[in-house]
Order: sequence, then C-alpha cells, then structure tokens
Amino acid sequence: MTDITDIKIFDTTLRDGEQSPGVNLNKQEKLEIAKQLERLGVDVIEAGFPASSEGDFQAVKLIADTIKNSTVTALARTKKHDIDRAYEALKNTPNPRIHIFLATSPIHREFKLKMDKQKVIDTSVEMVTYSKSMFNEVEWSAEDASRTELPFLAEIIEAVIDAGAAIINLPDTVGYTTPKEYGEMFKYVSENVPNIDKAILSTHCHNDLGMAVANSVAGIENGATQIECSINGIGERAGNAALEEIAVALHIRGDFYPYTTNLNLQEIKRSSDIVAKLTGMTVQPNKAIIGRNAYAHEAGIHQDGMLKNSETYEIISPALVGVSADTANTLFLGKHSGRHAFKDKVKSFKVELTEEELSAAFSSFKELTDHKKEVTDDDIYSIIMEIKTDASNIERYVLNNFEVNYEQDGLTKAHIDVVTPAGEHVSHEVTGSGSVEALYKAIQEIIREKTNLLDYQLSSVGGGKDALAESRVQIKINDQQFSGRGTAQDVLAASANAYINAVNRYLMSEQAAAPAESVNA
Ligand code: KIV
Ligand code: ZN
Repeated sequence: MTDITDIKIFDTTLRDGEQSPGVNLNKQEKLEIAKQLERLGVDVIEAGFPASSEGDFQAVKLIADTIKNSTVTALARTKKHDIDRAYEALKNTPNPRIHIFLATSPIHREFKLKMDKQKVIDTSVEMVTYSKSMFNEVEWSAEDASRTELPFLAEIIEAVIDAGAAIINLPDTVGYTTPKEYGEMFKYVSENVPNIDKAILSTHCHNDLGMAVANSVAGIENGATQIECSINGIGERAGNAALEEIAVALHIRGDFYPYTTNLNLQEIKRSSDIVAKLTGMTVQPNKAIIGRNAYAHEAGIHQDGMLKNSETYEIISPALVGVSADTANTLFLGKHSGRHAFKDKVKSFKVELTEEELSAAFSSFKELTDHKKEVTDDDIYSIIMEIKTDASNIERYVLNNFEVNYEQDGLTKAHIDVVTPAGEHVSHEVTGSGSVEALYKAIQEIIREKTNLLDYQLSSVGGGKDALAESRVQIKINDQQFSGRGTAQDVLAASANAYINAVNRYLMSEQAAAPAESVNA
C-alpha cells in the first residue's frame, strides 16, 4: 500500500493576494478573511508584510493576536528592520513563523540586487541566523528559484538550513516554469542538498502561463510537503495557485494522488465568497470548483445524462465544497422574524458578532424587510460583512443625501450632499448624460482628491425583483488603484456608496501609511 503524505497548506491570500492591483483590504476585512481561513483549516496563514506599511503591521498584529489554530506568518526582506517589525507583529500568536526571502536567479542578482552569488548566500545566512534568534520557525524563500542555476540553488539551500531555516520555499515567481521542469527542480534539491532532511520543501507558483496548480502538484510529486496558494487564485499579476483547485484535485483524484490535507472542504465556497466580496475580485463564472457555472449543465445531452446518473457528467458533488444544491437562494427571514431567529441565522454563518454589532445588524435587517419581502442568506451575509468591516473610526466622506432628476433634453441632473472628513456639509449639482455619470461627476466635484474611474459594476445580491443592489468600482488616485463597494436597495444609492467607499479606502491607506518606500515582494 502507498504511504499517504500530509501536505501543509500555506495560504497567502492576505499577502500575495493582497498585492493584486486594486485590492486594498482594511484590517477588519483582513481579520474576517483570516478567521475564515482558520475555519477552512489552513495550516499557515501569511497575514501580510509588516514592514511595508503601518496599516499592514496593524493588520498582521490583529490577526496574530486573534488566530489560535493556524500558524500565523509574515513576510520580511533579508533586513533586520523587516524581521524586527515581523517579530513585533507576531509576538502574541502561539505559533509564529517568519518568512524571509531573497532572490537567487542570475537576472535578479545582476539587475535588481546587484549582488554576486556569495553575497546572496552571506546575506541569507546572516538574516536566517538573526531570525532564528527570535523565532522558532524560520521559512526562507529563494525568490525566482525556478530561473536559478540548480547547483547554486543547492549550495544556498544547504547554507540556510545550516543557519536554521526549517522550511525552504522555491517560488516560480514569474509563472514561467512547467510541471516537468518544476518537479525536476524539487527532485534535484532533494537529491543534492546533504542536510535536506532537516527542512521541508515548499511550492509557490504564479499563474502567468496558467500552470500554477499543475506546477504545485508536480512539486509535491517530487518531494515538497507544503503548498503556498491563495483563495480564488488571487495574487500578483495573473495570481497564485488556487487553493480550492489544489485541495479538490487532491481529494477527487485521491486514487492517483497519495496526499491528504487538513482542509475542511465544505468551507471552500464560503471562503471564496468572502474573499471575492471583500477584495472586489469577482470570480469568473467558469472558474473551476467555485465558479457560478461549475456545476451547471447546459447541453441537452448532458442534462439527460445527469438525470439518469449524476456521475455521467459531474465529477465533484457541489455539496463537497459547500455549494448549496438549491442554486436559487435559500429563502430566509422576513418582516415578522424576531431578534432570536436572526441571531440563530447569524450563528449559522459562524461569524461572531458583539451584542452591539448584532443590534446594528438586526436593525439593518429590519430596515431591509420594509422594502424586501423575502430576505435571503446572501442579503444577511452582506449586512453582517458591512458591519464587521466598517471603518467608521477614520476621518472620511459620508454620503448624506442625493437626488437624481431626468431633464427634458435627455440629460440627467444629480444633486448630492456629502459630509467631508473635516465634518463640513458640501452640496453640488451636476448634469450628465446618464444618472450614474451625473452622480459620479457631482462626487468628483466635492472630493478633494483627483480620481479616475477605471471600472464600474452593478449586480444583485440574491434573487428576486426586490434584491439588494451591489455596486463595485475601481478608481485611481495618485497612480494607485482602490476598489470600493456599496450595497443598497436602490441601484443609484449603491453606486454612490461604492464610489465614496473607494475614496475612503484611499484615505484609510493614507492615514495608515508609513514613510514611503516601495517594498512589494
Ligand atoms: O513569488 C514570490 O517569489 C514571492 C516570494 C516573496 C515568496 O511571493
Ligand atoms: Zn509570489
């Protein structure tokens, strides 16, 4: 019988995933995602990059102070300052891990680092030794490992293991490798690093050629026992290996892959939903495992086969990953439902609310039932997330009132009243060729920051004519992208809220920013 190997899942949604353009989560949102990752059963949560900004430091600290069942790690460059910041942020978590990285490939050595091979080894060894004086568990990454000369890779790995690194991560940083080549790199390292038995090997794959999941699996077939991945595959450029795809592939093809993970697969859909909602990165309908169409059968021949035996065309049961068989939304509470029933429903989402948050959520729910006959699970979840991730403690713009009128000449006039971060009421009236355009022009006139609208989306939460509207926008301020979302019964209110939310996220990042230094990994 084949031995079964336990594969550790290292989730980097909050670090590499958060590096996706336009994603800027506040610390409450990051905490909600971290709690969901803990429920999903990931072994390691990479909570952020504390030295990159004060905001990131605070978010990592909040997660480290809260999460108990997963190892919490944070990224650091091979610099004492970064390692000290990571230590400060992680010191209250029961299982802290530092994750330090330095590039090893010729192109990075020559053009980015301007270091020769020996300098890259010495710097890595020095900083692993320094990290080891503060952390029990040290992970070292060879950035751009997949484009590094194999003998040099083996040499530096041996040195950092001797210095105390217990996890060696070999990223395909630019998503360039192929499954065979990536697998061979792990095989080479396993066979040519004399002290490799003192460390575990880890994969970290980017999806530029669409091979991140296949490459990760090739890594474990050749000796890696940790996979770094992210929910919905979000991450730098084309993203990282998608956690849900790896998890389900290993499970469904357990006949072929002798591996287990500690993941609770039924939490996959919820994890995907929360990440999509909070990051604003919607999941494509045909995305494997969690896309809206992943379990939909359109062709007549397929539908006929499904009715006779679902296994004719369905290799994954939707229930396995927590997708409800009832694709129409579960009907939920209504006008006459009481606080008790509401509290029970909130409990079923496994989201903890304080009494104060529960009261706020209950009154939003009651308000909604004045306009909406059937309130769905999605509606309730949206309300709860709005409350859990509220950032009303920052100085920000608040939409006070707006009115939109259609003029006889086919134009639309928007009048808007906003409270500024300084507490002043400012109103403005603008004419545009459509209601959203007029509304957004009026907001742009009021706010101090120069904004550029990059993307605008409108969708409904749940089903029915009276569904809540959800709007998402991407805007650019000072060459940085920010996403915003707004939910309301009325589409224009949702749209206005989304725009103001995006501007407030810019203010939040400004208020949390440390002295500027570009440190994206
Ligand atoms: O892709 C990469 O190389 C990384 C490292 C910082 C681990 O994200
Ligand atoms: Zn990466």
